[in-house]
Amino acid sequence: MRLTPVYYYSSTSGLVRTFAERLDRPAYNLAERAHRLSEADGPWVLLTPSYKTGNDANDTVPEAVHRFLRSAVNRRTLVGVMGSGNRNFGRYYQKAAREIAARSGRPVLFEFELAGTPWDVAECRQILADLDDGLARAAHARLGAH
Ligand SMILES: Cc1cc2nc3c(=O)[nH]c(=O)nc-3n(C[C@H](O)[C@H](O)[C@H](O)COP(=O)(O)O)c2cc1C
Repeated sequence: MRLTPVYYYSSTSGLVRTFAERLDRPAYNLAERAHRLSEADGPWVLLTPSYKTGNDANDTVPEAVHRFLRSAVNRRTLVGVMGSGNRNFGRYYQKAAREIAARSGRPVLFEFELAGTPWDVAECRQILADLDDGLARAAHARLGAH
């Protein structure tokens, strides 16, 4: 079965990368130019931190995530969004993930704080395994209908 890849952004503090590398599936860091400029070859999941900038727009979406989502292919094949944040940011908690989900009409699949706990990792693995399964079934049903 295809493992739905996770495309994530992680800053030099690397909290999201620590989490993403524990998911036991392809995970691509959008901080790397080659990944940022690539196109997904099928359904994929976004994992993004929120970064409150303090400027007027208060855009918390990392620039690398904006760049990746500029591709129409990537926007079309996105199936869900996950977020890492910090509750200390109050109403801006998980703002980037929630905003992208709302704008794209895709669900927020999972949220956690900082690098997540071992329980967060286990729960997220299960959510993604269920997603793999659902996507495989949907693809199968489509083939059968033809
Ligand atoms: C300058 C700064 C701004 C942040 N702004 C937010 C925010 O608006 N909302 C939020 O939920 N978390 C916020 N965070 C927390 C980060 O999203 C969180 O620590 C995340 O795990 C960082 O991932 P990374 O280390 O992989 O970049 C902020 C952290 C920093 C350092």
